[in-house]
Amino acid sequence: MKSEVKILKLFDAHVHLRHDNSRILQEVVIPTAKVCKYAVIMPNTSPPTISHNDVVWYRDQILFFSKQYPDFNPLMMIKMESNCDPELIRSVKNVGAIGTKSYPEGVTTNSSKGLAEEVINNPPQNLLDCWEEQSKNGMISSWHGEMPKSFVMDGEKDFLPFISWLANQYPKLKIILEHISTADAVDLILNKNPHNNIAATITYHHLILTLDDVLKHNIYPHNYCKPVVKTPRDREFLVKAVLSGHPNFFLGSDSAPHCVKAKENCWGCAGIYSSPVLVQGLAEFFDSHDALDKMENFTSIYGARFYGLPLWEESITLIRKRFSVFAPFNEFGFTPFRVAHDFGWGLKDD
Ligand code: DOR
Ligand code: ZN
Repeated sequence: MKSEVKILKLFDAHVHLRHDNSRILQEVVIPTAKVCKYAVIMPNTSPPTISHNDVVWYRDQILFFSKQYPDFNPLMMIKMESNCDPELIRSVKNVGAIGTKSYPEGVTTNSSKGLAEEVINNPPQNLLDCWEEQSKNGMISSWHGEMPKSFVMDGEKDFLPFISWLANQYPKLKIILEHISTADAVDLILNKNPHNNIAATITYHHLILTLDDVLKHNIYPHNYCKPVVKTPRDREFLVKAVLSGHPNFFLGSDSAPHCVKAKENCWGCAGIYSSPVLVQGLAEFFDSHDALDKMENFTSIYGARFYGLPLWEESITLIRKRFSVFAPFNEFGFTPFRVAHDFGWGLKDD
């Protein structure tokens, strides 16, 4: 039985750090910067990150608040709205943005100006030109894959034909289906991906929760996210995908903090704040499947490879020890995922 696991610092391909109130960013960037070499920062901020000035300003803010971890490198994306054009794509690439994130309208936090179902079904020329430009310049096209008008449990499945269309139309475009939650999405990546240009991120929470953990006995808002966690069968497919060691499945934590006041609310926001327990929880997950040797590929290597980045040297070490996190003192704090759970793994240096 292994008592220690050393892995390269993480490549977290999907993190929300916010910026509308720098107090939030200042707090929530720390657990990510501490364990990650790279993190891809989501642009559904308020206001959204959509221009080259936004990218520069937001990245500077993140670096400022994470300066105690100088190895940390935030990778920026812009939110692709329906008026996006190739000129904008080129201008954000010039300031280091690595891709676009597209949100269908209304499917999650801050997606009210996302792409309408009609736009997804019949994309305008300016978006076709953007994808052509991204194909040529190696930028990522990242997707929140849920159809706006679908029943909530079917939104992801209904989105898959669009992803297949996009991948066939632009065989060189690097497409990421974010935070997959269904057996259907796993099947797409494995069996309906002829150009091998679609990858998927998988969260820690989708690997361990089902809908029962959100609403079976009482409503537990801190397990509510989009796409919602689904059936035991869906979870089994996600777990098998990760344990298979297939390189097109990699970590995107989708750590998404909302203050207690916004979560414990009759219109509670979607989002699970997992970064404070991410590596500890993943070590516990891989250990429970006797697969600790598969952890580093999933958390650190496959994502970097898909993004086309060279590997790095900085590492973290996890050891068997007791580790827990607790709820914040007041409603302005952020309740982490799995509050008070006794994890069997912790960071050696903590
Ligand atoms: O649960 C989620 N929260 N899913 C998303 O796609 C967005 C995120 C957020 O920004 O809070
Ligand atoms: Zn997200």
